[in-house]
Amino acid sequence: MSLYAVLGHPIDHSLSPRIHEDFAALTGRIVRYERREVRAGGLAQALSALAAEGGLGANITVPLKGEAFALAARPSARALRARAVNTLSWENGVWIGDNTDGLGLVRDLTHNLGWPLRDRRVFLIGAGGAAQGIVGPLLDAGIATLTLFNRTPERARELVAACADARVHRATTGGPAAGPPYDLVINATAAGLSGALPAFPDGLFEGAMAYDLMYGPKARAFLSHARAHGARAAEDGLGMLVEQAAESFRLWHGVRPPTAPVRARLRAWLGGYEL
Ligand code: ATR
Repeated sequence: MSLYAVLGHPIDHSLSPRIHEDFAALTGRIVRYERREVRAGGLAQALSALAAEGGLGANITVPLKGEAFALAARPSARALRARAVNTLSWENGVWIGDNTDGLGLVRDLTHNLGWPLRDRRVFLIGAGGAAQGIVGPLLDAGIATLTLFNRTPERARELVAACADARVHRATTGGPAAGPPYDLVINATAAGLSGALPAFPDGLFEGAMAYDLMYGPKARAFLSHARAHGARAAEDGLGMLVEQAAESFRLWHGVRPPTAPVRARLRAWLGGYEL
């Protein structure tokens, strides 16, 4: 049986094994997919152990995506752009790195939610690894403007510079450079991990779609704030999680699994929490 794993910390509540087992069942495959607790600095050793056991692939999550990028033998164009790796494939004795996060977000918005990105004005809160992974794919999807805001302004400045795209601006305390109004406001911060709301400028949400890259209760603070402040829709990142996993599955198994039944099952299993 082929072996795969998700590596990170904390990892106990990762839904990846459940998602990949569902994909395997839906596509008639038998795979073993494990959670492995790996702390910052421990990825190289964990990957050697996985390869020695016959592991063929790994999903990489917080806080290891940068480490995986540094370790990957041949990062894909997507990984190079994100400067982060969330999918590793064991090929010819080396770990090949890719990043499927941005594609997962774009596919959830455009395909699952029926919300085209072309010509949209987007406001992005956060400038860490999660934000880095989605800016390239959002720009490729044809958005009109991307305005970045981060608690630590220097990181937002660096991300704007790394994009090198005239559509990308930084919101300053003196007011956003492009807009409002915004069509889409994305929370890519880690604030929800502690149930907190990140700081952001006033007046972002009127008529906008709000999207949190986190899912379930961790997205609640942001999405309920957005709804209370005029957002027309508020979505968590469960669909993105399933879509990025589907792209990893495709890289490993050569077939794209159906995602709608897996998403529906997870949503029911999460217990229909109130956003
Ligand atoms: P990730 O890979 O999950 O993005 P990260 O690289 O540590 O993790 O980045 C976390 C992001 O969440 C950053 O944008 C961080 O802001 P800072 O750059 O100022 O640290 C943001 N963040 C985390 N906790 C936050 C909070 N309580 N309020 C606002 N932003 C927060």
